[in-house]
Amino acid sequence: MRLPWPLPAVLVWLLCWAVQMALRPVLAPLPAMLLAALPGVLLSLLAAHWWRRALVALGFPLSLALSGSTALPAWAWLLPVAMLVLVYPLHSWRDAPLFPTPIRALDGLAQRAPLPPGALVLDGGCGLGHGLRALRAQYPRARLCGVEWSPLLALLCRLRCRFARVRQGDLWAEDWRDYQMVYLFQRPETMARASAKARAEMLPGSWLVSLAFALPDMPASEKLDETPRRGHTVWIYRMPAEDAV
Ligand SMILES: C[S@@+](CC[C@H](N)C(=O)[O-])C[C@H]1O[C@@H](n2cnc3c(N)ncnc32)[C@H](O)[C@@H]1O
Repeated sequence: MRLPWPLPAVLVWLLCWAVQMALRPVLAPLPAMLLAALPGVLLSLLAAHWWRRALVALGFPLSLALSGSTALPAWAWLLPVAMLVLVYPLHSWRDAPLFPTPIRALDGLAQRAPLPPGALVLDGGCGLGHGLRALRAQYPRARLCGVEWSPLLALLCRLRCRFARVRQGDLWAEDWRDYQMVYLFQRPETMARASAKARAEMLPGSWLVSLAFALPDMPASEKLDETPRRGHTVWIYRMPAEDAV
């Protein structure tokens, strides 16, 4: 169920305030403020746009500062911003937010895009690892890799997906030549860049799979239609010989 904006932000701020009220009698002002700001920073991962993420995460510390109810040194108000930078390194503000791949989204992929045992598969922007888990269900004998820009998400993903090799890094800096399949769940605006990179780097016969967003300039070789369980269309592209460099 999707709540209409700005209700999610208001609910998150109320949650932060509830944590602040509960902790304030037992903790010093600074740790109480930081722990109360934490749910806002983490829940901001679910917001769809950078400005919504900022509002969800910073609404509580701002309202606390304006209320004047806590005496903190001026520098202390920068700490929630520092937490935010840890979760979202600077350039990730313009990239895709965290939307996990639904658990059944890739059902049937292995039949449409078969891979040999030991094939290398990359989830570009692996978030918390939901895509890696869905890929593992399809390709139990593949070697799964994930690259994620946010250090915090990369760490959590590594803990959740011990079967995969997960690194913090930029999916655009990765060489896709090494992979027999690259899986993406990004943004419509990103797909032209993904198409150019796939054509330049991926070897003939390898697969680019995109959840929800089609490549703008290449016909899909296969697709898995959207169903209520799947949640999105799965777009499947096989790299042709003439596009390989
Ligand atoms: C829609 S989520 C998908 C997460 C995961 N692939 C899944 O399907 O469950 C997009 C993820 O890509 C990450 N991301 C966005 N731009 C990135 C980049 N340039 N390099 C690495 N990760 C990136 C975001 O931080 C976010 O976690």
